[in-house]
Amino acid sequence: MSKIRTNVLLNICIVIGLLLLFYYAFLTHDTINQRNLKKNARKDIKHVKFLPPSLKKRREYNVWLIFTKVTKISTLSFKFRDLIHNLLNVTSVPLKFNIIVDKISQRIAENQISDVVLYMNKSVVYSFYDIEESAKKIQDIVQVMTPYFSSKPGTYYSDALFYISLGLYRIAPQSQDIAVLLDCDLYFKKDVALLFKEFDKFKSTALFGLAPELTPVYRHILHMYKAKHNTTFGDYYHQQNISNATHPRGFQGYNSGVVLIRLKAQRNSTEFLKVINNSSVLEMTSKYKFRGHLGDQDFYTLLGYEYPHLIQTLNCGFNRQLCTWWRDHGYSDIFDHYAKCDHDTVVLHGNCNTRIPK
Ligand SMILES: *[C@@H]1O[C@H](CO)[C@@H](O)[C@H](O)[C@H]1NC(C)=O
Ligand SMILES: *[C@@H]1O[C@H](CO)[C@@H](O)[C@H](O)[C@H]1NC(C)=O
Ligand SMILES: *[C@@H]1O[C@H](CO)[C@@H](O)[C@H](O)[C@H]1NC(C)=O
Ligand SMILES: *[C@@H]1O[C@H](CO)[C@@H](O)[C@H](O)[C@H]1NC(C)=O
Ligand SMILES: *[C@@H]1O[C@H](CO)[C@@H](O)[C@H](O)[C@H]1NC(C)=O
Ligand SMILES: *[C@@H]1O[C@H](CO)[C@@H](O)[C@H](O)[C@H]1NC(C)=O
Ligand SMILES: *[C@@H]1O[C@H](CO)[C@@H](O)[C@H](O)[C@H]1NC(C)=O
Ligand SMILES: *[C@@H]1O[C@H](CO)[C@@H](O)[C@H](O)[C@H]1NC(C)=O
Repeated sequence: MSKIRTNVLLNICIVIGLLLLFYYAFLTHDTINQRNLKKNARKDIKHVKFLPPSLKKRREYNVWLIFTKVTKISTLSFKFRDLIHNLLNVTSVPLKFNIIVDKISQRIAENQISDVVLYMNKSVVYSFYDIEESAKKIQDIVQVMTPYFSSKPGTYYSDALFYISLGLYRIAPQSQDIAVLLDCDLYFKKDVALLFKEFDKFKSTALFGLAPELTPVYRHILHMYKAKHNTTFGDYYHQQNISNATHPRGFQGYNSGVVLIRLKAQRNSTEFLKVINNSSVLEMTSKYKFRGHLGDQDFYTLLGYEYPHLIQTLNCGFNRQLCTWWRDHGYSDIFDHYAKCDHDTVVLHGNCNTRIPK
């Protein structure tokens, strides 16, 4: 009897030993992989001598994600895992993930990332940034914005989460010139490199790139102003000019599920400091009797009307939102005009918990 038990124990030990070996082999393999990646990249630069000046500095592909307040394996943690898997699956360029986390969420994020590493047998390059430290760096911006664009003032760092994109230039390492900030409820149908290519199309004055909001939410928020003023602000996009205003075909506002940021230009912009000043935000919100609840994207929408040179409008295919909430809440007659998107879909956005058809 006891001999059999010893054998069973021995077997278990051997199995555990093998598992550990396997795990160790994987991990070392991975670090080697990463090193090789870096070596090869350096080699590429050495051997290519005739690049045009614009390509001389190798572009970094920094993707930013926010993953906080996750305390257990949940839908959000799977969305996060699936998005990283999806991005690595579609990308033709080496991505670097920058993830804003709290301590508990970080552990869950690490688990989800190692799932992807094991599943895809690919290394993932990532860094974590602490939300509390990040929130401190953008406190002044959050204080200005919250009264105008948050549904109810929150506590702790929760308010800051809605305005990270505006202050990311202070959180990101100085070496990062550009960044793409993504919501976790996205699915890329095409190469994420296409998104980075959009930076090359930016007008010289633009700091941010955003795609239109695809619901009438801003028509709704602006209804008081629109009742008194003949404006294209909040109108859906028409095929032809309907006025001689700044946005002659209409202006639906912006959605911040995908935000392209020129960090370097923003760091150097004195104009940006002016537009995020309390007096400028007060002026804009008063003018349009604007009371929002969607955080940074409310601010971008106002900028888009008052300071259009600061924003590059991406086409709707770069943030194809799927939420239809407004169709069932008073806007069934015009909803489809807002949701219409004739461009190729690069990114699907399952906002308001809409399931993404894959
Ligand atoms: C990965 O790519 C393949 C082939 O392009 C595709 O069929 C699959 O759905 C993709 N999976 C994810 C998670 O993106
Ligand atoms: C993982 O990828 C490496 C090449 O990068 C390959 O040599 C190795 O066999 C792969 N391992 C598995 C389990 O597929
Ligand atoms: C912004 O201005 C308003 C109106 O003058 C004032 O009530 C509020 O305290 C100011 N907020 C900040 C953060 O300065
Ligand atoms: C529409 O308006 C824009 C800007 O005012 C102008 O540049 C463009 O030529 C107009 N297009 C048509 C078809 O009138
Ligand atoms: C609004 O202005 C446009 C021209 O800019 C004009 O065609 C239209 O009739 C005006 N609408 C109202 C309600 O005044
Ligand atoms: C724009 O202005 C021109 C000249 O003032 C006018 O002829 C034209 O009808 C206007 N277009 C629209 C769409 O209001
Ligand atoms: C930074 O700003 C200064 C002064 O406004 C300007 O001369 C310089 O070209 C800017 N640099 C960049 C990289 O935008
Ligand atoms: C906003 O601008 C005013 C006037 O230029 C200045 O006194 C104030 O300090 C600025 N506020 C912030 C938060 O930058």
